[in-house]
Amino acid sequence: MSGLLQFKGKKMFASLGFLFAILSIARCVPVQQAASRDKVLLVSFDGFRWNYDQDVDTPNLDAMAAEGVKARYMTPAFVTLTSPCHFTLLTGKYLENHGVIHNMWFNTSTGVKMPYYVTQGINSWWDNGSLPIWITAQRQGLKTGSIYFPGGRAKYQGEEVNMKIVEPPIFNYSNETNWRQNIDTVMEWFTVNNLDFIALYFGEPDSTGHKYGPESEQRKAMVSQVDRTIGYLRQRIRESGLEPNLNLIITSDHGMETVIKTNEIHIQTVENFTFSDIQFELLDYGPNGLLIPKEGKLEHVYSVLKNAHPKLHVYKKEEFPKRFHYANNPRITPLLMYSDPGYVIHGRFKVQFNKGEHGFDNEAMNMKTIFRAVGPAFKQGLLAEPFESVNVYALLCELLGIVPEPHDGSLEVLKPLLRECPADGCGNTDI
Ligand SMILES: *[C@@H]1O[C@H](CO)[C@@H](O)[C@H](O)[C@H]1NC(C)=O
Ligand SMILES: *[C@@H]1O[C@H](CO)[C@@H](O)[C@H](O)[C@H]1NC(C)=O
Ligand SMILES: *[C@@H]1O[C@H](CO)[C@@H](O)[C@H](O)[C@H]1NC(C)=O
Ligand SMILES: *[C@@H]1O[C@H](CO)[C@@H](O)[C@H](O)[C@H]1NC(C)=O
Ligand SMILES: *[C@@H]1O[C@H](CO)[C@@H](O)[C@H](O)[C@H]1NC(C)=O
Ligand SMILES: [Zn+2]
Repeated sequence: MSGLLQFKGKKMFASLGFLFAILSIARCVPVQQAASRDKVLLVSFDGFRWNYDQDVDTPNLDAMAAEGVKARYMTPAFVTLTSPCHFTLLTGKYLENHGVIHNMWFNTSTGVKMPYYVTQGINSWWDNGSLPIWITAQRQGLKTGSIYFPGGRAKYQGEEVNMKIVEPPIFNYSNETNWRQNIDTVMEWFTVNNLDFIALYFGEPDSTGHKYGPESEQRKAMVSQVDRTIGYLRQRIRESGLEPNLNLIITSDHGMETVIKTNEIHIQTVENFTFSDIQFELLDYGPNGLLIPKEGKLEHVYSVLKNAHPKLHVYKKEEFPKRFHYANNPRITPLLMYSDPGYVIHGRFKVQFNKGEHGFDNEAMNMKTIFRAVGPAFKQGLLAEPFESVNVYALLCELLGIVPEPHDGSLEVLKPLLRECPADGCGNTDI
């Protein structure tokens, strides 16, 4: 097996049903059989744009929609980057409230920056006051797992997900054999280790979308591979006897946009701008940029950059549009910028060569992503109206029958996806 398999032995929890029985006896009321808890599998295929199923034959995604729920699309949080948007799925919070504001860890005093993979292992970057659903579920007696899921490598208030596989530093994210192995591992963790919740991550079709562009034949072939994998996953769920009590959610973090290579934004060439006025910069990362001007230089840097390019939007932190729910966090620098769909921001040198990119405005249609669900809790054949990804966390907590942490979403938004509950309650919440 590629990657590191770790089992985190935790103290044993009495099941809630058992506790209920004891409490019931103590209070001399009839003991009720607690409903058996349904399991949840959250799957993310990175960078799966909302409409990637429209130009590729996807029989398995189609079958899942017919048997479950398909949202027309899902609106990710902003910035539309991988770690931040996955952490929104796990916490139900916008970036400014969970603190994972970028894929890269950085220190504005030293100028040190760490890439995606290293940042996965920096606890203090992730553990910034919000608990991901793994930890909340474990504290309430459930068992959880993560395979490659962003945020799954970190510790939160000293606790970590019960079982995990972490991808190695150099890793081929498109290996279908490895994908199937991970699915087999998930089945084992549910049936042998009796986990209640697993988050499973695939790095495609993001990698292929970056390299070849979202309209390429290579991307279409990768969507076929994703669809085959969904077919394999649902077959393994049936073979493992999990179908009656497993709720499967397939979603993603953001979409993908074709990069425009003309009239590019290149900060180094902006008239009257000089990097000698800058104390810290995080540029060359798609369409997003963070800047700290040197003492006394903020107004000057702001004035030379703000009208530098028609596709570039530069703001002082306090003036950044509130609809993004992004800038109100201590990790955001005094100046920040983003560019319009298709345009990436080059800093000192042009080092970005991708044909596809994300990070753009979450209202741009090409940043919208997918949400599909099937299982005992979900309606069948429902085409749901679009919603924001901050609401998924409340749904996961409801499906698992756990009490959520404070969050920015609402269960009400996704309640229409769920089957009507019988008069005596809905599965897990019945305990
Ligand atoms: C950044 O580096 C400085 C200087 O080494 C250190 O004092 C500070 O704690 C660091 N900040 C973070 C967030 O790591
Ligand atoms: C979040 O991180 C920032 C530094 O990046 C730090 O100043 C702040 O205290 C952290 N907050 C929590 C609750 O961990
Ligand atoms: C990754 O593995 C697949 C086969 O599983 C292969 O087709 C592809 O070329 C590999 N990609 C890289 C970058 O090595
Ligand atoms: C694909 O994954 C399988 C199983 O993890 C591994 O044995 C194989 O070497 C991988 N192939 C490539 C091209 O990385
Ligand atoms: C650049 O600075 C010079 C000298 O202060 C000024 O005349 C010119 O208008 C500035 N150009 C822009 C685009 O700000
Ligand atoms: Zn991503």
